[in-house]
Amino acid sequence: MVRKSKRSLVQLPTVVLTHPLFPEIVRQELEPFAHIILAKTPSALKKALPKADGVLCLLTDQITSRELDRAPRLRAIANFAVGVNNIDLEECEKRGIRVANTPDVLTRSTAELALALLLACARRIPEGEAICRKDAFSGWTPDYLLGLELKGRHAVLAGPGRIGKETGALFQALGLTVEYLSRSSSSLQIRQALGRAQVLSLHFPLTPDTHHWLDSKRIALLPRDAIVLNTTRGPTVDEKALITALQKKRIFSAGLDVFEREPRIPAALRKLPNCVLLPHVGSATLQARHAMARSAIQGILGLLNGQRIPNEVKLKK
Ligand code: 8YV
Repeated sequence: MVRKSKRSLVQLPTVVLTHPLFPEIVRQELEPFAHIILAKTPSALKKALPKADGVLCLLTDQITSRELDRAPRLRAIANFAVGVNNIDLEECEKRGIRVANTPDVLTRSTAELALALLLACARRIPEGEAICRKDAFSGWTPDYLLGLELKGRHAVLAGPGRIGKETGALFQALGLTVEYLSRSSSSLQIRQALGRAQVLSLHFPLTPDTHHWLDSKRIALLPRDAIVLNTTRGPTVDEKALITALQKKRIFSAGLDVFEREPRIPAALRKLPNCVLLPHVGSATLQARHAMARSAIQGILGLLNGQRIPNEVKLKK
């Protein structure tokens, strides 16, 4: 790898960062090997793209053919996320632009958050917490704030990837039984699994075929005591249909870390007591986020150096 020195300055690639990430990590691991342009807004990004050899972006940055058209030198993109639905991969492939993401390092944190959502839903933790904070605890009674015991319940994990599998292992440790659905499961397999899904946890990446994967028809198949969890991408669920099901108490609860039009969360959802809402914090642990920064930096530098890297995203055909 070429290091920054007075003589080698001209040979270094230019990497556009759309966020400063963790400045100490960037200073140590990216700065010696690249000219960095920080472009925090869409208009700054627009201005910086013509100079970019590489872009290190967030899941909230849309990289479409419009952005790519402005970046004739672009050879590599690293997404600070495992999900890459914000990047037009086909366009990148057509233009010979390689893409990296940050898998593995966030698996455990995201699975632990799915588990936290499950417990919070089953035991109605935010409802109880809100009562205490409002000083509205009127005294213990036998039927107060009843939840569901999890041991022996059946969980269906839609998406048998790294995060789905890790989440399944955590659920099993709690005494739930688990089964997995994949994108190639037949509609009969899906219908039968949903019929027994006392917990349905979504882990599919967002693609055109997983958009609104959980729709009103599939919600109608769930048992009445079902808990739905989403720690992947909001649009995998038809949010309106889920809100209706929660309003009608058609299912027990939903634990959502992601929403259809982030950062907007529908008022109808915010009003409902039978759901737990979090602001897309699945990977938000210090360990995972630092490791994601390192992984994205190694990804962009590896791709710019023409190396084979383990976290290169390949277009699924
Ligand atoms: C989690 C993510 O899936 O890296 C990504 O693509 O968004 C992950 O960190 C997310 O936080 C939802 O829980």
